[in-house]
Amino acid sequence: MNASTPTILEVRDLKKAFAVRRGFLQRTGGAIRAVDGVDLEIRSNQTLGLVGESGCGKSTVARLILRLLLPDSGLIRFEGREITGLDEREFKPLRKRMQMIFQDPYSSLNPRMTVAQSIVEGVRMAGIKSKADQRRRVEQLLDMVGMPKASADRYPHEFSGGQRQRVGIARALSVAPQLILCDEPISALDVSIQAQIINLLKDLQRDLGLSYLFISHDLNVVSYICDYVCVMYRGRIMESAPAKVLFESARHPYTLKLLAAIPGSKETVPADPPIGQKKSVPAAGCAFFDQCLEGNEKCLERPPALLEVAPEHFVRCWG
Ligand SMILES: Nc1ncnc2c1ncn2[C@@H]1O[C@H](COP(=O)(O)OP(=O)(O)OP(=O)(O)O)[C@@H](O)[C@H]1O
Ligand SMILES: [Mg+2]
Repeated sequence: MNASTPTILEVRDLKKAFAVRRGFLQRTGGAIRAVDGVDLEIRSNQTLGLVGESGCGKSTVARLILRLLLPDSGLIRFEGREITGLDEREFKPLRKRMQMIFQDPYSSLNPRMTVAQSIVEGVRMAGIKSKADQRRRVEQLLDMVGMPKASADRYPHEFSGGQRQRVGIARALSVAPQLILCDEPISALDVSIQAQIINLLKDLQRDLGLSYLFISHDLNVVSYICDYVCVMYRGRIMESAPAKVLFESARHPYTLKLLAAIPGSKETVPADPPIGQKKSVPAAGCAFFDQCLEGNEKCLERPPALLEVAPEHFVRCWG
């Protein structure tokens, strides 16, 4: 990534905990630190990948950025402006500049609305007033995502998963956003369709100058589409680097484990610690300690800081 490229989104020390409710009476019993001090930066016209196992907090980061959730603390700066402290009225115009694409486009498309009805709402928000111009814009958006004009008057259930995702993307584009948060946008699709959607996202980025946060489990796809990658584990960024650096010279034991698990990888998957030598997560130390084959006294006592080990390559590990 070119360090001189402007930053569109900056997140600093973002935190969000959820109360855990237990038992029949749903009493509060502690909290899950879903996002536990996350820092990240998305550069203009680039794609930042966010990877990590299920439950590590990826979607929560996206929801906090879009203010579908409010953070406990931390800072989010969008296009140079801090947005964390804005009230709903101040945030409203920014909603148009950030959009989300979901794994299941059904969740963002109303099944009782035609495609045109779903998309026109955003077109109106983008300031297009006349009905004829709105219709033209809907058709143009459908064309941009590779759907025929005639699909405007059909309903979501009439389409395949890939076509529905295209409609979901057209809907996200309808407000003319700058930043799109893609939360597992292809993981529900057939493998044969996945590449088409990825290439569509790439083309749209090039043509419209979009920036993406790309959340995915599929590291092959991440290496193909992302400029920079953050690896998340239990609410924290463990390693981040330009994509090429991460895939060629990752340093964190957790990243190495993820990379070794890629189908077709030449690396061997590091074994889990043998039974009997299983460690527990120390209250004060490294969150990866129980899974790590290395690990020393220091890892038990203090959480490692995210240190820059090479230009733009950060690692949270004492090893
Ligand atoms: N609204 C909520 N209330 C309580 N706990 C929540 C809530 N949302 C998320 N969590 C918890 O926070 C943690 C992080 O969840 P999140 O959905 O961000 O993970 P994720 O990395 O997106 O996982 P996946 O890859 O499965 O989508 C999980 O333990 C989850 O159960
Ligand atoms: Mg998720």
